[in-house]
Amino acid sequence: MSIHIGAAPGEISDTVLLPGDPLRAEWIATTYLDDAVCYSKIRNMLGFTGTYQGRRISVQGTGMGQPSLSIYVHELLAEYGARTVVRVGSCGGLLDTVAVRDVVVAMSGCTDSSLNQLRFEGLDFAPTADFALLRGYVERAEAAGIPHHVGQIFSTDAFYNDRPELRDRLTQYGVLAIEMETAALYTLAAKFGARALSVNTVSDNLVTGESLPAEDRERSFADMVELTLATVTS
Ligand code: HPA
Repeated sequence: MSIHIGAAPGEISDTVLLPGDPLRAEWIATTYLDDAVCYSKIRNMLGFTGTYQGRRISVQGTGMGQPSLSIYVHELLAEYGARTVVRVGSCGGLLDTVAVRDVVVAMSGCTDSSLNQLRFEGLDFAPTADFALLRGYVERAEAAGIPHHVGQIFSTDAFYNDRPELRDRLTQYGVLAIEMETAALYTLAAKFGARALSVNTVSDNLVTGESLPAEDRERSFADMVELTLATVTS
């Protein structure tokens, strides 16, 4: 086991879905995976492995924010041999065209975090999705007629931000949505030579004030998870 994940070697698949909420991890495992086994309960950050259409898949909660996600993703990549990691999350739209229930497929992630400023000694690294995964997801979303947007996402360190006016500049520059994890996920995948993608259902829109009722969130999340499973098992 690693420090934060209680799995024995071999108990985690090389392909891992990453919801922020550990209860979403449990929901994905019990809804979609056959023979799902919970491999970790440390800090209640649940992780499961099962099979989807015969392929071994794991699903691991990451918690909220880049520091928390980085702990789990680092250990998955460095200690458990994960090679394909896909965030299945939610985000807030920053453009009025990005409506609730739509999916934002993050091609790249900018951030106000100092993690990469420190890592690259001031150089601006551009955290980027794996192109084959991104294309695979987008082709399936197009075929299924699921509204989606492909572009840049903003991974903020502060949900409650003292300078919300900065968001207006990101809107002006066409950044699609705000969330709190993608830039770190793409950076760690690059570090370990792995493939990463981040797909996020729009739960609210910061420009229009639109918000998705809790009971409607599960359906759009389910559509997104189904497309993700189809993409990673193809
Ligand atoms: N900020 C950060 N993350 C989010 C938001 C937000 O407004 N909405 C959904 N995820």
